Amino acid sequence: MSNAYDLPKFGEDPISKAEAYRQLDTALAALLAGERDRIANLANTASLIYQALPELNWAGFYLLEPTGRELVLGPFQGKPACVRIALGRGVCGTAAARRETVVVANVHEFPGHIACDSASNSEIVVPLLVHEGPQTGALLGVLDLDSPVRARFDEIDRHGLETLAATLVSSVSWR
Ligand code: SME
Repeated sequence: MSNAYDLPKFGEDPISKAEAYRQLDTALAALLAGERDRIANLANTASLIYQALPELNWAGFYLLEPTGRELVLGPFQGKPACVRIALGRGVCGTAAARRETVVVANVHEFPGHIACDSASNSEIVVPLLVHEGPQTGALLGVLDLDSPVRARFDEIDRHGLETLAATLVSSVSWR
């Protein structure tokens, strides 16, 4: 890649897919470098992921409200989506409540799945967690990706997206 806006190629075989995630993380860090604004960095991260990863129909963020009881829609790419999700509800609320990544091979079999786009068949939701300092472990929100393809997301996606989420979290001023 010659600059932050050249996107890596995501191949089918595991080694090139993992390498593509490493290149995408480098591109993300370059894209966010020098900017601490939360909305700007969330928006550019959603765009980069949506442009780079094949077979997505939605990519974006839900952010934890100050009450800590619900998530509210943040920057995203894709069709308009539901705005508020209670913690524990749907795939996003489940990942937020558990503070761990949730991978759903078939959203139609996930109890309480919230259907924002009828094209979605599989989903991955990665919590945004603070990794350093006294706030370590604090939940900021979630990264949500939807795909029209069943079982679109595997362990390489999980690891790659958790790495991208950590890069994003460390780029932004959250207070
Ligand atoms: N399907 C999600 C809701 C958000 S949309 O996919 C954008 C869920 O069940 O939490």
